[in-house]
Amino acid sequence: MNGSTQVQTKRVTKLCNSKEIVTINGMYPGPVIYAQEDDRVIVRVTNLSPHNASIHWHGVRQRLSCWFDGPSYITQCPIQSGQTFTYEFTLVQQKGTFFWHAHVSWLRATVYGALIVYPKPTVPYPFPYPFEEHIIILGEYWLRDVLQIEQAVLASGGGPPIADSYTINGHPGPNYNCSANDVYKIDVVPGKTYLLRLINAGMNTENFFGIAGHKLTIVEADAEYTKPFTTDKVMLGPGGTVNVLVTANRPISRYSMAVGPYMSARNVPFQNITSVAYFQYLGATPNSVSLPAMLPSFNDNLAVKTVMDGLRGLNTSSVPKVIDENLFVTIGLNVQKCNRKNPNQTCQGPNGGIFAASMNNISFIRPNASLLEAYYRDNTGYFTDDFPGAPLKLYDFVNGAPNNIPNDTNAKNGTRVFVLEYGTRVQLILQDTGTVSTENHPIHLHGYSFYVVGYGSGNYNPDIANFNLVDPPYMNTIGVPVGGWAAIRFTADNPGAWFMHCHLEIHLSWGLSVVFIVKNGQGPLETLPHPPADYPRC
Ligand code: C2O
Repeated sequence: MNGSTQVQTKRVTKLCNSKEIVTINGMYPGPVIYAQEDDRVIVRVTNLSPHNASIHWHGVRQRLSCWFDGPSYITQCPIQSGQTFTYEFTLVQQKGTFFWHAHVSWLRATVYGALIVYPKPTVPYPFPYPFEEHIIILGEYWLRDVLQIEQAVLASGGGPPIADSYTINGHPGPNYNCSANDVYKIDVVPGKTYLLRLINAGMNTENFFGIAGHKLTIVEADAEYTKPFTTDKVMLGPGGTVNVLVTANRPISRYSMAVGPYMSARNVPFQNITSVAYFQYLGATPNSVSLPAMLPSFNDNLAVKTVMDGLRGLNTSSVPKVIDENLFVTIGLNVQKCNRKNPNQTCQGPNGGIFAASMNNISFIRPNASLLEAYYRDNTGYFTDDFPGAPLKLYDFVNGAPNNIPNDTNAKNGTRVFVLEYGTRVQLILQDTGTVSTENHPIHLHGYSFYVVGYGSGNYNPDIANFNLVDPPYMNTIGVPVGGWAAIRFTADNPGAWFMHCHLEIHLSWGLSVVFIVKNGQGPLETLPHPPADYPRC
């Protein structure tokens, strides 16, 4: 596949308000890219917008092509206004539902689209062929300019404003003011089975999804097949993708497909109005009232666990059984002291502090150059390689959090990476903390899929933790349970600089990230090639 794309602004009207948004080719959501397993993808991106841009191919493992991974200041400098960069990579042994999104500032609020990779023609799906396939891409929409919101939030030190609506394929649906006709709809034939490719491209909220009266059978998560699991709702955090089969086996009518919030943190405001699209049977009266979908309540942690328990991988032959590197990483929010020069200026975070977020209590500061290039060229001064493999302070992470905000809740700041030798078999325990509030965090790893071998609530305790080494799901984004932990395993056999971060955009802005540098191995098949000729400059 080979395409030319332009980053450009476009005026859109939603919820009776117009604003300029950044798009690809003027489309919102952006164009769908269709490809086949092992295809070479070439996308020439010209930035005609006034903002810095870069594109990430979420879930694509970028085998030996880290230069094209996309996160700004990690694997590349952003593409500046007026410049062009050509992304070029191979979908090595990958197929399923992916998406692409901008990976700089909050641009991805509107710059995203699906990337669908089919198996080779002779390779069938491991489930009955659906009658049709549909892409359902979830988003969040703000009436105000998102880049201005981002700036204002970070300057204030406080939390972000809630989205004005959730969206389904860019449409808020009829539940919001002035949006009765801005609704996405799928027409279905009674008796047929549909494959829905669900993608959460939202920013700051995790979501429940369900269809009134219908069962969903999960057959794929994060572009890897799963054993079929039937449920009536799924939870997708930002960065999550799930394929479900739905059979139109209910009385002829119009049914709601609904997206609502899953908010596991305490005292965080969120948009509580669900976005609705129609699942409309052929023969239903066009203006019939749609039957409402019953979503779990916003804090239904058990509903999330139930779906997670049902996720079992289909092809799990390469689960690492022996571990070389055992990492333990806490994830959570912090409150930093307000250190305004001008005493009249206040900070809007809890107790007059500034919100931050961290891994092992290190809040990541992005460098002002490509970290990958700095590593590749041995340029010093851009990062340090001392990210700790375990927390520096041990305490009851979930319940014993220091509560003298903001005195005991400071993180250290730094651009610290963790270096892995080629081929290291890694186990990583991600531990949620209650420093500000416990919360489910969708942690995403670039460059790899990982096996989710365990998870649980409370503090991780190796003596009682239950691991599944038989059929764990193979994922790229894991919703670490609220006040709990998740254990993931992968073999570090793809050299480069790989970002790992919370896919809630505000947490990423606050520093909830780290970079793994994976060194080259032996010979060209284990070595990162040179950077491309048109590699952007900062
Ligand atoms: Cu979709 Cu760095 O993420």
